[in-house]
Amino acid sequence: MMLYKSVLKPVLFRFDPEFIHDLFTDAGEFLGRHSLGRSLTGLFYNYRGKDISKTVDGIKYRTPILLSAGFDYNGRLSRILDRVGFGGEEMGSVTARQCSGNPKPRLTRLPKSQSILVNKGLKNEGVDAIIKRLKATPCNRDLVTGISIARTNDAKSVPIQAGIADYVYSFRKLNEEGVGDYYTINISCPNAFGGEAFTTPELLTKLLEAFKKVPCSKPVYVKMPINIPWDQFNSLLKVIDSFGLNGVVIGNLNKDYESLEFRAEAPSVYKGGLSGKPCTHLSTDLIYKTREVWGKRFTIFGVGGVMSPETAKEKFDAGADLIQLVSGMIFEGPELIKKIAKSL
Ligand SMILES: Cc1cc2nc3c(=O)[nH]c(=O)nc-3n(C[C@H](O)[C@H](O)[C@H](O)COP(=O)(O)O)c2cc1C
Repeated sequence: MMLYKSVLKPVLFRFDPEFIHDLFTDAGEFLGRHSLGRSLTGLFYNYRGKDISKTVDGIKYRTPILLSAGFDYNGRLSRILDRVGFGGEEMGSVTARQCSGNPKPRLTRLPKSQSILVNKGLKNEGVDAIIKRLKATPCNRDLVTGISIARTNDAKSVPIQAGIADYVYSFRKLNEEGVGDYYTINISCPNAFGGEAFTTPELLTKLLEAFKKVPCSKPVYVKMPINIPWDQFNSLLKVIDSFGLNGVVIGNLNKDYESLEFRAEAPSVYKGGLSGKPCTHLSTDLIYKTREVWGKRFTIFGVGGVMSPETAKEKFDAGADLIQLVSGMIFEGPELIKKIAKSL
C-alpha cells in the first residue's frame, strides 16, 4: 500500500501541518468508533505475521512499536492505533491544566531534512478532561496506553515548587482514577515556558521525591533530553536509578539546529526542537551507552528518527527494548509500522 507516499502525501504536504494533524485525528477517532472503520483500517495496515509480542515490565505489547508522545495528545486515538500495527502509544504529553500551546506556527515541515520543527508548547486539554475521555472510551486490550506527563506550559507553573506540584497533580489523578498502563515523566520538552528545569540531578531529585509520595503500581519512565553531554545524562540516570524507576525513553527532540542537513528549508528564527532524521544518531548513541554502562538495569524505549526498518533495527541493536516513532509515520505513511513489524 503505497497510497500514502505516492498519492496522499504530495497533497497533504501542501497544507498547514497542524490542520492535517487535526484532520487525521478526527478521521482516526471516527474510524476507531465503528467496527467497520476498525476492520477496514486493519485490512490495509495491520500486522498479521508471526508472533513478535514482547512483555516488558509485566506489560504485554502485541508489537514492540509504539506511537511516540505528541501525536495523540488528547487521547482520541486509542481505538484505532492497534489497527495500524502499533503495540502501544504514549499519549500526551498531558498537563495539570489545559494548555493552548505556543503562538502559531507550532509545526514546520522540513521535508528534505525529514524532520519537523516542533514548537507546539504542550497543547492539550488538561489531565482531567483526558481522564474523562479515556474512562468513557471502551478499553482496547490490543493497545498499551502509556501516558506522558509534563508541566503546564504557563507562567503559573514556572517556580520550581509550583512546577513540581503541577506534575504531581496529573500523576496522582491518573493513578487515583486507574487510567493508563504506564507513565512517562517528560522532563525534556524544549518548547515550554519554564524551559527544561528538571534536567539537573538536584532538581530531578526534588521532582522524583514528590512523585515517590504518590502510590503507583505501574511502571514509570523518564523521557530524556538528547542534547546533553554523557556525564550529565549519566548523572540523571543515577538519580532515576536511586528512585527505583523502571526505565527511560531516549529521547526527546533535537535542539541543536546546527545538525540540520538542509538549513535553507528551515525558518531563519528557530524555536522549538527537531524531530525525525536529525534525532537518529544522537538517540541511538545514548541508547547504546546507557545499555553498555547500566546493563539490564533500565527498560529503554528507543525513539528518534525511526524512519525505516533499518533505523528501527539500529535502535534494537543498540539496546532498545521497545521503539517509538512519530515522524516516520508522517513522512513514510502508516504502512511503515507494518513494514518494521515484518522486518523483526
Ligand atoms: C508534533 C510533535 C509533537 C511532540 N510533542 C511531544 C510531547 O508532547 N511530549 C513528548 O514527550 N514528546 C513530544 N514530541 C517528541 C516525540 O515524542 C519524539 O520524542 C521525537 O519526535 C523524536 O521521534 P521521531 O523522530 O519519531 O519523531 C513531539 C514530536 C512531534 C513531532
